[in-house]
Amino acid sequence: MFEKKVYAVAGRPILHSRSPFLFNSFFGELGLNATYTRLLAKNAEQAVMMVNAVGLDGANITSPFKKGVITFLDALKGPAMKVDAVNCVVREKGGLVGYNTDVTGAVQALRKNGIRLSGRKVVILGAGGAARAVAAGCMKAQAESVTLVNRSRERAKEAAEHLDCEYGDPEKLKGLIVQSDILISCLPSVSRLIEPSVLRKKLVVMDANYRDSWLLSRASEKGCRIISGLDWLFYQALPCFELFTHKKISRHLENKIRCMLTTAPRTEKSSIALIGFMGSGKTHVGRGLAEKTAVPFIDTDDVIEEQVGSSISEIFREKGEGFFRQVEKSVIRRILSDSGKRVISFGGGCVLDPENRDLIRKQCLSIWLWVTLETAMKRMDLCSRPLLNVPQAKEKAFSMLEQRKFLYAQTADLVIDAETGDINNLVQRIVDEMG
Ligand code: S3P
Repeated sequence: MFEKKVYAVAGRPILHSRSPFLFNSFFGELGLNATYTRLLAKNAEQAVMMVNAVGLDGANITSPFKKGVITFLDALKGPAMKVDAVNCVVREKGGLVGYNTDVTGAVQALRKNGIRLSGRKVVILGAGGAARAVAAGCMKAQAESVTLVNRSRERAKEAAEHLDCEYGDPEKLKGLIVQSDILISCLPSVSRLIEPSVLRKKLVVMDANYRDSWLLSRASEKGCRIISGLDWLFYQALPCFELFTHKKISRHLENKIRCMLTTAPRTEKSSIALIGFMGSGKTHVGRGLAEKTAVPFIDTDDVIEEQVGSSISEIFREKGEGFFRQVEKSVIRRILSDSGKRVISFGGGCVLDPENRDLIRKQCLSIWLWVTLETAMKRMDLCSRPLLNVPQAKEKAFSMLEQRKFLYAQTADLVIDAETGDINNLVQRIVDEMG
């Protein structure tokens, strides 16, 4: 039996990230016992804390934490130090090691689209982690000039001095673009910086933002050569995959998954699922979330009690866990056969069944409320928890959580730290994330 590995991408916002699709496709194609989800963290410190506490084997780091995580890592390798940004963290013998694969990823994305960098003039919008990485990559690929332009001129100046490239004034951007061959945006929104009239046919335009890119839409209208941020995402992920698994991706698989990434439709999920261990707060957060989003709330344990006509403890005591799991499965099927919008709080053990996991993943945006074992134990009244109403409750809970961790990660679209008892705050963070 191979060891199960768990990976994730951490950022804020993070729900848009296509990395889980990408990595889970690689894992599936190669038959690896690994899964990849998303971590919603408040800040860089919490992102690294969660990587450690959830016990991840590796993680990708995205905006706005690429620089901030550095202080919390044990070492940096490759260009991460020079670029002062990390997009990939790997658990190695000496601890957590930060890498930067955005540098080669951006250059590969251009090359794979037939764009040569040597001798070309490149303008980069932004001065954050992604911008510094692509600037370093373009310099290494011997671009004739690399100019960083940022709303804050000071930040662009500082980054350019560090990387030994040029920086420009946002007021003079028009002139810079007119003289350049390649324009790369690493800003969330550029609509106020760029006038579409500066975009011309021969210009190559790439946008790190791969959701709805205002820039690429305008560039496409003007007949520019456009490179999707999805290609950059893909080519920064390939070396991360190798760092995580020590396995190479064949050319055939590279082409297959790259094509899937650009063509797979994004799925809209109508319901929200809250999953996680007993005591993680699923019912409280679920109720709050349902109220805030004005949709009905369902707790699968309530439905089971109503259907059987006895409490969960009685069901376990009189009919056993096997019976409970059967009812739980049929209740989950029935609830999810209706495609209406709801917030559903699932019993902590629902993920033990593979069909439950599949159904939840397909139908719901599922959120794993993560808590430490200590917090879960403190919050629970063990007398009303049939599985933990035993002499060695803590040891049993520990082994249950260890067994389920991978399954929660496999089912979850998003993991959120639910250690805080502040339900309103958690609800608000989830609502903000869902936009
Ligand atoms: C269980 C969790 C409980 C309940 C039952 C079994 C589990 O629900 O379904 O006692 O196996 O973890 P909560 O997680 O909502 O407490």
